[in-house]
Amino acid sequence: MTKTISNILSKSGQILKSYNKVSNVTKLDIEYCLMEVLDKNRAYLHAHGEEKISNQELIEFNKLLKDILLGKPLAQVLGYQDFYKNKFLINSNVLIPRIETEILIPKILELGDEIYDKNKQLILIDAGSGSGCIGLSLAIERKDWTIILIEKSSKAVEVLLSNCKKHNVSNCTIIMSDWLTAISDKFANIIVSNPPYVDVGSKQIEDSVKGFEPNTSLYSNENGFSDIKELIADSKRVLVNDGLLILENGFNQSAKVSSLLEKNYYKDIDIILDYNGINRFTLSRYS
Ligand SMILES: C[S@@+](CC[C@H](N)C(=O)[O-])C[C@H]1O[C@@H](n2cnc3c(N)ncnc32)[C@H](O)[C@@H]1O
Repeated sequence: MTKTISNILSKSGQILKSYNKVSNVTKLDIEYCLMEVLDKNRAYLHAHGEEKISNQELIEFNKLLKDILLGKPLAQVLGYQDFYKNKFLINSNVLIPRIETEILIPKILELGDEIYDKNKQLILIDAGSGSGCIGLSLAIERKDWTIILIEKSSKAVEVLLSNCKKHNVSNCTIIMSDWLTAISDKFANIIVSNPPYVDVGSKQIEDSVKGFEPNTSLYSNENGFSDIKELIADSKRVLVNDGLLILENGFNQSAKVSSLLEKNYYKDIDIILDYNGINRFTLSRYS
């Protein structure tokens, strides 16, 4: 068979159809693999179907295709995920940044700007940074803010370091810590966290998530609330007066998160929905 772009795509499409073990792989995933190998965009693939690809490119493409067909998430196959305005390097040691988490970035920029304008400085902690998608997106947008990236997993810290280098940020510090234990009292203006919040016994996690993403990013004890509770309790110590705590939570956890915040005397509790209309984020103020 001539190894042209269109041949490769149609052959892979046939393999995909016959490969009924993996139902959630799409033709688009396969196109992304070819785009990656050829370093071309989708429009190019479709406009240059007759272009031949080299043996080396075919070998690389087949390797990516094999991983995709084994159920590995596309982002892990490619080694990166787009988030907000940037690409983040990822591997199996960090959570793949989720599109809904992007909703937080413009909101935090807006709230942070108000604080910065008043105080002429701002310290923000991203607790449980993983790839760094939240903290680094903010650091890239606001060079005058001081961003502290907290992470417990040494393997995730390696990814975090690569992303700090990739984005050439000078306003970020990585601290390996069990949540906020390494941080002094009354230190931060804003604490943001997307902590692990899935109930250990949950049956609702997709196979591609369960099988490929780190358990330490996903699961939390006490029906998924253990880490959220710890963050709510210790943020009171770490936030300055009127500091903000911003948490992501699971699809059915919002009411309990609000009630935990109220019990801990947080005020101005505000809930933000994700793209599916789920109460996904809780903002609150502590003074
Ligand atoms: C759900 S992931 C979020 C990663 C990233 N912030 C994001 O939104 O994609 C939670 C992160 O918290 C880290 N983590 C879990 N327990 C922790 C702890 N006790 N202290 C600090 N980080 C922790 C995990 O290693 C993981 O990187």
